[in-house]
Amino acid sequence: MSDFQKQTVQWFPGHMAKTRRLIKESLSRVDCVTEILDARIPLASRNPEIEEITASKPRIILLNKCDMADEKVTADWIKYFKAKGFEALAVDCKTGKGLGGYQALVRKVLADKIQANNDRGMVGKALRVMVVGIPNTGKSSFINKMAGRVRAKVADKPGVTTSNQWFFIGNGIELLDTPGVLWPKFDDPVVGDKLAFIGSVKDSVLDIETMAVRLIDALRDGYPDRLAERYKISDFEDMQSWEILELIGRKRGMLISGGEVNTERASVMLLDEYRGGKLGRISMEFPKK
Ligand code: G4P
Repeated sequence: MSDFQKQTVQWFPGHMAKTRRLIKESLSRVDCVTEILDARIPLASRNPEIEEITASKPRIILLNKCDMADEKVTADWIKYFKAKGFEALAVDCKTGKGLGGYQALVRKVLADKIQANNDRGMVGKALRVMVVGIPNTGKSSFINKMAGRVRAKVADKPGVTTSNQWFFIGNGIELLDTPGVLWPKFDDPVVGDKLAFIGSVKDSVLDIETMAVRLIDALRDGYPDRLAERYKISDFEDMQSWEILELIGRKRGMLISGGEVNTERASVMLLDEYRGGKLGRISMEFPKK
């Protein structure tokens, strides 16, 4: 077992059990759930237990960081989630792009609830939304953008863990930050790779050169032209991915004595450039058509 696998095995189960309990406890206080995923890897950035734990509530899926994902692929993902019966929106929580439609979506998924409230004479009763997402998907950015300058802790509701945070965002809507931390479930190594590519898993957990080679595996599949363009390389179809890494390092002049390529430096550079968007908008997962 690699160090990476060892770490994930120890890391996941206990923490998740606690979060699962906290979410279940808070679920009765909310009307719907907003799940934040990374638009580049909507499946890998999703904790599969969420669907099960929150099944009783309407759900809105936000494909965040859509500024870094392939626009066409994100549009396909929106269709994919809608076909599954969820509302879905592509957003960029750094700039706020796409968030204009969020409140209307909350009111749409809760139309029956709003009607029932009105019928009971509770016009304007607060609509409560729990926000869930694995670390680094942009949950804080989303809440900050929505709550804006008027961001205020609404109140700790009685009976709910005191760490629960409520934020009023206007239009009668309150957001509840996830109680607990929702770790990704990456016991599947492919999922772990994808989380590492986008920087959700610390580099130190994975060998950097292995990660760079796997990133090249993924890029040459989906976006070979971007590799060719960025690193001025060609005719690499029949090369192994580690040879491509060497070629990239050589092109960038990352040599050590004896003319060998410093593949560690090349790996760091490649990952940094990918994460920094230097290779353009790239999606790492594609919905099955
Ligand atoms: P979390 O609460 O889910 O852990 O995530 P958080 O909001 O802290 O966001 C994690 C990182 O992702 C932050 O970058 C944040 O700026 C960035 N981010 C969030 N939403 C988007 C988005 O839609 N597009 C892009 N491109 N980035 C986004 P950071 O490097 O940790 O901090 P900083 O760059 O804000 O200083």
